[in-house]
Amino acid sequence: MNAEAPVILQIKNLTKKFAAEGGKMLTACDNVTLNAYAGQTLGIIGESGCGKSTLVRTILQIHPASGGEVIFDGQDILKLRGEAARQNRRKIQMVFQDPAAAFNPKMKVKEIVCEPLLNFGLIKKSEVDTKAAELLRMVELPEDFKDRYPHNMSGGQRQRLGIARALSLEPKIVVCDEATSALDVSVQEKICELLVRLQKEKGITYLFICHDLGLVDLMCHQIAVMYLGNIVEYIGYGRRISTEGMHPYTKALMKSVFKVDFKPGEKIEPLESEIPSPLDLPKGCPFQSRCGQCMEICRSEKPELKEVVPGHFVACHLVNGNF
Ligand SMILES: Nc1ncnc2c1ncn2[C@@H]1O[C@H](COP(=O)(O)OP(=O)(O)OP(=O)(O)O)[C@@H](O)[C@H]1O
Ligand code: SF4
Ligand SMILES: [Mg+2]
Repeated sequence: MNAEAPVILQIKNLTKKFAAEGGKMLTACDNVTLNAYAGQTLGIIGESGCGKSTLVRTILQIHPASGGEVIFDGQDILKLRGEAARQNRRKIQMVFQDPAAAFNPKMKVKEIVCEPLLNFGLIKKSEVDTKAAELLRMVELPEDFKDRYPHNMSGGQRQRLGIARALSLEPKIVVCDEATSALDVSVQEKICELLVRLQKEKGITYLFICHDLGLVDLMCHQIAVMYLGNIVEYIGYGRRISTEGMHPYTKALMKSVFKVDFKPGEKIEPLESEIPSPLDLPKGCPFQSRCGQCMEICRSEKPELKEVVPGHFVACHLVNGNF
């Protein structure tokens, strides 16, 4: 889907279903196919409950997949078990939304930041102070923070610590699931600048989930729009989802958010009704119940994700001319 950089992660027909009450199945990710590119950022956007976290958690094997493959380093990492799976985890790390909850409050900063390295036997206990200082410098935190506890740090500082810990194993891919959402805007900006600097220096690939669509537009090289577990639009390198989105859902999503550069007369138009339950996925287009342009074919045939202009894929019968 993008020729600018080599593909590093291939997500192929990835499906995740959860068992729900009454013997039903909840489809959180439905046959998702996506590529992430080396040293670039793949943004994943969509309303709450559309399956963004489930997608990345299935890639990280926090949830077992119901179907599909995730190809990394020439192998399907979903099939790895035991020591092979553990070693693979070094290469794909995660930065959490709420770093405070992710850290053991009884551990000092130096123990938190060096724990992954100790677990993998990559440093000795005697090297913790030196390595912690190096990692703190990398994320622009003062070295003497190493003897603090995380509750004596601000939210932004804790998030820097979370990034230092995730990067300590020198991963190829870092998943940021709402990693900046709990921070106020100025701190968020600084953390994003840090992520971009580290990406340029280390060639890291990010999977970046974020509710701030403006930020996603700025940070991401590719953007996938999710709806009811499906990728309904994918836009590649050098394009902006906010102005070039074609799928009726993407357009509605863009109109429903507040922007700082509102034009005179422009209004926020909240998306009508709520996202339907993933328990009862409709036949045909997943967006049909909320789409003002729904046609006969939309109720019977699911639209495929098709390339409409180079690097830009849309799953909509209207855009794809199937009527
Ligand atoms: N462990 C689980 N067991 C059962 N259902 C789950 C589980 N995790 C997520 N779900 C369901 O899967 C769907 C997708 O949830 P998910 O958390 O992936 O959404 P999301 O896009 O990350 O939302 P948000 O933006 O609110 O974080 C939801 O309907 C959710 O209730
Ligand atoms: S396929 Fe039909 S229902 Fe779905 S978004 Fe396009 S026009 Fe709307
Ligand atoms: Mg989520």
